[in-house]
Amino acid sequence: GSEAHVEDFDFSFEGPFGSYDTNQLQRGLQIYTEVCSSCHGLKFVAFRTLHDEGGPHLPEDQMRAYAEYYEVFDEALFDGEGDFRTATPADHFPESNDPNAPDLSLMAKARAGFHGPYGTGINQLTRGMGGPEYIASLLNGYHEAPSCAPEDFDGYYNTTFAAGGYPDECKGDHGEHLYPGSWIAMAPPLYDDQLEFNDGHAADVEHMAQDVAAFLMWTAEPKMMARKQAGLTGVIFLTVLSVLLYLTNKRLWAPHK
Ligand code: HEM
Repeated sequence: GSEAHVEDFDFSFEGPFGSYDTNQLQRGLQIYTEVCSSCHGLKFVAFRTLHDEGGPHLPEDQMRAYAEYYEVFDEALFDGEGDFRTATPADHFPESNDPNAPDLSLMAKARAGFHGPYGTGINQLTRGMGGPEYIASLLNGYHEAPSCAPEDFDGYYNTTFAAGGYPDECKGDHGEHLYPGSWIAMAPPLYDDQLEFNDGHAADVEHMAQDVAAFLMWTAEPKMMARKQAGLTGVIFLTVLSVLLYLTNKRLWAPHK
């Protein structure tokens, strides 16, 4: 079929009891830093949040050292003319370097991996919105272009990316796409054993794609753990309240039965 392909990865943060895997978020941060950040930005993410519990949870000194590795432009410096200075934990990650590369802060919520069936949204109810699945699939989605495509067609063939260019030669009689996905401007950013992780985790494309997707889920939804915790507390509270109200009701009406 020609539907874009999104694989349903199992992420640790799925489900009502799911939580971010600290090691995975730290690996994702490393991949983001060493690979993605050469083009993409994370302008809505403050360095200090890298220390937050429920997030990558870097030790405070490491978070500070991480921030200091960046330079930011401070408009207040140099008598209002602005100047560069070393970043502090209160500063944000820089914006995208490459004007064509979108900011990734909220990307995991801006894209949906699962749709339908037939506009009902049932797939999203059972499997989630699929933002991180979309990102992980995209990074795993580079394949050799189908032979119908002209050699010099712009971009890289990706079976997950649906919004890119598509050669006429690969369309059917009614303009329908004969192959999944489309052509994306981003070259495949990951390759096997590109990096080494402190925790000794595998560094193949399939795993790194999931690690960086998990990290980008955290940047988009940093309070997910607190939200799930509050929801669970609420459910327990309401359950206890229901029992008490039931017993109260029984007792109040007992004399009239
Ligand atoms: C687009 C992720 C590395 C350049 C994107 C998109 C994502 C993404 C999620 C959006 C796709 C969409 O619109 O649905 C990543 C990740 C990276 C990475 C996680 C690191 C592992 C890079 C690098 C470059 C780059 C190193 C530059 C050399 C671009 C460009 C686009 C893009 C130009 C726009 C593509 C288009 O609209 O055709 N990236 N990226 N990315 N990325 Fe990356």
